[in-house]
Amino acid sequence: MSVPAEPGGTPEEPHGSTDPVEATDRDWRVRVQQAAREAAWASSRPRRSEEGFNYRWEHVQAVVRLARHLAELTGADAEVVEAAAWLHDVAKDTSNDHGRAGAREARRILAETDFARDKVEAVAEAIAKHVGLVVPAPVEPLEAAVVWDADKLTKVGATAILHYTGHRVMKGQGTTSDLLTWLPEPVLEDIVGCLHTAPAQAAGRRRLQVFRAFCEQAIDEFDGEDLLP
Ligand SMILES: [Fe+2]
Ligand SMILES: [Fe+2]
Repeated sequence: MSVPAEPGGTPEEPHGSTDPVEATDRDWRVRVQQAAREAAWASSRPRRSEEGFNYRWEHVQAVVRLARHLAELTGADAEVVEAAAWLHDVAKDTSNDHGRAGAREARRILAETDFARDKVEAVAEAIAKHVGLVVPAPVEPLEAAVVWDADKLTKVGATAILHYTGHRVMKGQGTTSDLLTWLPEPVLEDIVGCLHTAPAQAAGRRRLQVFRAFCEQAIDEFDGEDLLP
C-alpha cells in the first residue's frame, strides 16, 4: 500500500453536519471550513453530490479535531493551528507542491476575513511545511509541528483503517483481498517516528499497535489461520 494521497463535523460536532449556520462573510472559521469542504468535494472521484463518505473531507475534519486538541495540550496558538488545519490540503489537486500552493491560497482566503492579520503568515508557514510522510529534521515552529502531527496521526490507527477502507472503495479497489495487501504499510512506523509533540507521539504508538493488530487478525481470519491451534 501507499498511504493515500492527502486529502473534515468539527470537534464539537464529531458526528454531525459541519455546514456553517448563520455565517457571516468575514467569519474566518466559516470561510476556511467552506474552502476546505469545497476543495475536498471538487477533487472527489468519481464526482458525486456532497453527501456520504469522501476521504478528503473526512481527512480534513479529522486533522482539525486532532489539531485543536494538540494545540490545547501543547500551548500552540489555537487559531493559527485551526486555520492551518482546515486549509492544509486546500490546494491538494492544484499543484505539485500543495504545501506552498495551499499557503498562498490561505493568505488569499484569510485576507478576506476577520482573521488576525499578524497571524496569517504563521498559518501559511504551517501549511507550507505540512507535506511529506516523514521529515529529515523537526518541523518548526510549534504551530507547524502541531499541524504536521495532526495530519500524520490521521494516517495511523483505527480511524485510519476506516478512512483507508472507504478511500479504496471510492476508487473501486476495496475488495477484502486488496485491502489486506494494501493496509500493512511499513511507512507507518516511520511516520510515527517523526511525530513531534509528546501527546501525538504517545497516541501514535498506541495507534500503530492497534493498526498492526488489526491487520494481523484480519489476515489470519482471511486465510483461516485463526482456526488452527
Ligand atoms: Fe492532509
Ligand atoms: Fe497535504
